[in-house]
Amino acid sequence: MPHFHKRPKIALVGAGQIGGIMALLCAQKQLGDIVLLDIPRMEGQAKGKALDISEGRAIDGYDAEIIGTSNYDDVAGADVVIVTAGVPRKPGMSRDDLIGINLSIVKDVGSNLKRVCPDAFVIVITNPLDAMVYAMQQVTGFPTNKVCGMAGVLDSARLRYFLADALDVSVANVQALTLGGHGDTMVPVLSSAAVGGVPITELIDSDTLDAIMKRTRKAGGEIVGLLGNGSAFFSPAAAAVQMAASYLHDDKAVLPAAAHLNGEYGYNGFYLGVPTVIGAGGIEKVLEVPLNAGEKDALDTSAAAVQKLVGSLDI
Ligand code: NAI
Ligand code: 2OP
Repeated sequence: MPHFHKRPKIALVGAGQIGGIMALLCAQKQLGDIVLLDIPRMEGQAKGKALDISEGRAIDGYDAEIIGTSNYDDVAGADVVIVTAGVPRKPGMSRDDLIGINLSIVKDVGSNLKRVCPDAFVIVITNPLDAMVYAMQQVTGFPTNKVCGMAGVLDSARLRYFLADALDVSVANVQALTLGGHGDTMVPVLSSAAVGGVPITELIDSDTLDAIMKRTRKAGGEIVGLLGNGSAFFSPAAAAVQMAASYLHDDKAVLPAAAHLNGEYGYNGFYLGVPTVIGAGGIEKVLEVPLNAGEKDALDTSAAAVQKLVGSLDI
């Protein structure tokens, strides 16, 4: 169990779009002191964002320390590390197209984290997510429950938003989940989706549900197409910060995450998006939701795609 004598330390590796927003959210939520790290060439960006957020402290009224750096010594002893280091998608690129360049970046980051913060809970965001989180665990050698990936909170949030919008109800009352890899094979699970306890399949017709599932799978690409220069960053940042908060506060929130599987859902030895319990022990549990036959087939397909990608990694 982590024991915090002072403010927890949160390291954000990658001070780009998602890194900057996470720094702001962590500060505003007063989750702890924040270190924004980027490569030496981008140190000014890390320092500039840290200073900009610090200058807003008087407005928002909190005392967290926020620094920018390119030196891993500043990350020493971090309680949580969230990794966005890498390059994002450009229009027309799939997440998997990023694998070569981002693997070498994850190796660099992982070897540094191993040295400076061996007890940290590490949340990987870098794409292709399910392969990069596997690489991070291999490179650091950290316990599998202390390394996870962020995708399911985001993908499920997108699904919940589309369902809530279709029904014109509060998104807070829509329970729905995506499983599997963070890619086009992800599996929106509608068999257990519900609105205020009413099964979603009784409220929305199947054509509309099909369209919502399709949109969910392509939601990352929809934003890439609109932005024209980079990928989504507000909701990905919020998703990872929710996971970090559950760890730091030992909330034991049930959140979907890319977690290392040990036979759950019939899979073994790699990371895949599943519902988890996140608390002071990191990924404390993987929950197994009942799936109908079609959903289980789709999850097998997604797992196979992730395994193939993981198998191609030269770690
Ligand atoms: P960005 O390009 O704005 O930021 C990435 C930052 O990483 C840059 O500032 C870059 O200089 C830095 N970086 C590169 N190499 C580094 C290294 N060796 N050490 C430290 N920092 C390094 O990108 P953005 O928009 O923040 O996205 C980051 C990653 O997150 C991308 O790979 C993107 O595909 C992924 N992503 C994943 C999502 C998910 O659900 N898992 C959702 C959205 C994006
Ligand atoms: C997203 O889902 C591109 O992975 C990124 O927005």
